[in-house]
Amino acid sequence: MTQFLGATRAASVPVHLIGFHVALDGTRLYDRVALTIDEDGRVGGTLDRIAERDGVPHRAELRGLLVGERLALMLEFDGVSPSGVMLDLVPEVCVHGAAMSGRIAGGDGEAALPYVMAHAPAARLDRSPTHGWGTVLVTPVAAGETVVGIDGPVGAEQTPYSFRTDDNRHVEPAGYGHFVNHACEPSCEIVYDLETALPTLVALRDLAAGDEVTFDYTRTEGQLAGSFQCRCPALVHKV
Ligand SMILES: C[S@@+](CC[C@H](N)C(=O)[O-])C[C@H]1O[C@@H](n2cnc3c(N)ncnc32)[C@H](O)[C@@H]1O
Ligand SMILES: [Zn+2]
Repeated sequence: MTQFLGATRAASVPVHLIGFHVALDGTRLYDRVALTIDEDGRVGGTLDRIAERDGVPHRAELRGLLVGERLALMLEFDGVSPSGVMLDLVPEVCVHGAAMSGRIAGGDGEAALPYVMAHAPAARLDRSPTHGWGTVLVTPVAAGETVVGIDGPVGAEQTPYSFRTDDNRHVEPAGYGHFVNHACEPSCEIVYDLETALPTLVALRDLAAGDEVTFDYTRTEGQLAGSFQCRCPALVHKV
């Protein structure tokens, strides 16, 4: 068993993470990561890096070492010489200790980039038929089960990505919560964790791998920060 972001992990169980960051040329990049970490902190796995402009994943092999709260990784994309990533895990960013931030040291030496990651064992980031990116299940989830926990910095301002937990209290989700689209007949509903007052998305029905994680923004958000014309699959729309 290994400790990773405050949780105890069996070496055989992969840890699923996403990261999103902005490259030096302004491109938004998303990384889907599956890692295993053995008893000695040796890390192995894969990373699919997706540039927002074309949505095509590029796979890299990962290997590295977890030492205390530092994760040193080598990324090797096909035919490209390996580059190093050093991530300092910062569990306090999120209440559940599920996020980390770090600085990437790439080929450009000191050109460090901010980086945020969060666990999401049941979900992945994918293109959505409704809008842009969406959060899509990789495993079936039974009705009533938690699908995605929402966690991240809390602020007074509502944004197009934030989840309202109270008047003047909005959580800016780090991780898959960032990409949850609205649907008028959604797959999930928001349930608030009584201890943390953070929202969780809970399945409204039995969901299959490939189903998109959605909720009805109008039930919790009040006035939406970014207005849009709904393109969800429902025949009658609320927004
Ligand atoms: C939290 S983001 C969801 C992730 C978004 N799809 C992306 O690629 O960044 C919320 C924004 O996505 C868009 N969106 C979400 N649900 C939508 C829907 N049902 N129809 C059209 N646009 C939607 C709106 O622009 C909204 O402000
Ligand atoms: Zn709709």
